[in-house]
Amino acid sequence: MGEGVLAGKVALVTGAGRGIGRAIALRLAQDGARLAVHYSGSEQGALETAKMIRDAGGEAMTVRADIARRDEVRALFAAIDEGFGRLDVVVNSAGVSGGGSLADLDDEQLEWMLGVNLRGPLYVASEAARRLGEGGRIVNLSSSLSEFPMAGSGVYSATKVAIKSLTESWAKELGRKGVTVNTVIPGATAPGMMDKAPEATRAFFENASPFGRIGTAGEIADVVAFLASPQASWVSGAHIMANGAANT
Ligand SMILES: NC(=O)c1ccc[n+]([C@@H]2O[C@H](COP(=O)([O-])OP(=O)(O)OC[C@H]3O[C@@H](n4cnc5c(N)ncnc54)[C@H](OP(=O)(O)O)[C@@H]3O)[C@@H](O)[C@H]2O)c1
Repeated sequence: MGEGVLAGKVALVTGAGRGIGRAIALRLAQDGARLAVHYSGSEQGALETAKMIRDAGGEAMTVRADIARRDEVRALFAAIDEGFGRLDVVVNSAGVSGGGSLADLDDEQLEWMLGVNLRGPLYVASEAARRLGEGGRIVNLSSSLSEFPMAGSGVYSATKVAIKSLTESWAKELGRKGVTVNTVIPGATAPGMMDKAPEATRAFFENASPFGRIGTAGEIADVVAFLASPQASWVSGAHIMANGAANT
């Protein structure tokens, strides 16, 4: 580590204690970035991610925040300022899924999903906008459910459509500073949210792809790594689907 395309750079990955976020953190560290491994509840997972990075010769610190809370996000960035003194790449991976019928709309679940999936990336990007400079990168994680909403996925799908609008707006605003902003749109992926899906749900998503399987977190991380790299300097405001040509 330290010799890759991200050598000398610092990356923050939210939700890096497990799932797709962890795979992204490991991948960016493999490319030479020093990592701020963010977590909310998965302290043990984040410590493991950081250990995996250090064991492979990289550098990592862990940072905790409920991203739905602006004060906690501010403190998270202050910790990175203190720990690394710079920031180059920000990946908004943390997110929560949930669903339910329209008739049973639940206020608590609504607030939770809007908080983590919408306000969270906004708070993170707002702090990032004050720090990122020429060559900076923001990568936002959306979902194929933004393209193919299902019965009951309305709120989740809407937050993931919103992410794409934010990407396009931020790309225009931050491009003036030399910062690119892009979206990666995963389909069903494991490790990650699909870990606890019932067998029938998993089979549904496997059958939806001509590859007959769901994606791996590493495959999503590879796409993020490209967007984070200097090679992606002219890609901004883009949404890249990584879902094995699934039609759902
Ligand atoms: N896996 C899929 O099938 C799939 C498909 C399409 C899109 N995506 C998107 O990919 C991204 C990563 O998903 P995943 O599969 O890795 O999900 P996951 O395994 O369920 O992990 C969710 C992550 O979000 C973090 N998080 C939850 N609440 C938080 C809060 N209040 N503050 C800060 N962080 C919080 C969790 O951190 P803690 O554990 O530390 O609390 C965890 O790291 C999400 O944006 C998701 O919408 C996933």
